[in-house]
Amino acid sequence: MNPVKNFTDFVGEIIEKELPDYQGKILVIMGPPGSGKGTFSKRLSDKEGYNHISTGDLIRKSKDPELKAKIAEGEFIDDKTMLAMLRKEVKKMDPGKGIIFDGFPRTVKQAGMLDSMLGKMGLGLSHTIYLDLDEKIATERIISRAEKENRADDKDPEIVKKRFRTYEEKTAPLIELYQKSRKLKKFDSGVGIDRLYKKIVNQLDLKKSEPSTTKSDTPSS
Ligand code: AP5
Ligand code: MG
Repeated sequence: MNPVKNFTDFVGEIIEKELPDYQGKILVIMGPPGSGKGTFSKRLSDKEGYNHISTGDLIRKSKDPELKAKIAEGEFIDDKTMLAMLRKEVKKMDPGKGIIFDGFPRTVKQAGMLDSMLGKMGLGLSHTIYLDLDEKIATERIISRAEKENRADDKDPEIVKKRFRTYEEKTAPLIELYQKSRKLKKFDSGVGIDRLYKKIVNQLDLKKSEPSTTKSDTPSS
């Protein structure tokens, strides 16, 4: 049985003694712009029921013009604001289904904030996934996505370049840190969506466990 009645009780200062009966895992997915973080996360959410939090999507949905301006310039928003937005979303979720954090953490400071938030919820990271992709291929993907989706940060090639430089400056040190401390799971994202999805799900055992069927579940004929 899952002892969590109201998940919002978990978020904040409360440290729960009894852990819920998890079916899903707590994941972080990282990688350069266009490496496929959103594509993988959406599929995992559709197929396996994971909660998917994309911090980029959260900012794009926000009505705050300052945040929208930052993202359109290819710059990160500040860590404190980002964490506040993230916490609000996490509070709405049932962690028993698993959570995939797409685009968070992006700085060493955010990594500490995530550990602390999860710790207060009685949770911890199961895996950190790193999608590796060459900048040239990732840029080509972003250019072709720009024709389908209307993202402000995809339109200008200079801004796309800036996103890669921001990533190198602020996120690459975190990747290095995770490589040393967390056994970062690195995957080549150049292999196509279907192959990549299967590889990650199988290697990290991300399929949800089948619910056990009892006689009463079987319809009587
Ligand atoms: P965010 O929205 O996260 O953008 P990003 O990191 O630049 O990554 P993208 O969303 O562009 O790419 P993706 O890796 O999701 O690839 P996708 O699946 O779409 O963040 C945007 C901005 O928000 C940041 O620049 C920053 O300003 C701000 N921000 C966000 N988080 C923040 C934080 N924590 N702190 C501060 N600021 C923050 O795939 C791309 C294309 O490739 C798609 O068309 C897809 O069909 C295709 N594709 C995907 N996978 C494959 C594959 N395996 N093979 C072939 N094609 C593929
Ligand atoms: Mg994305």
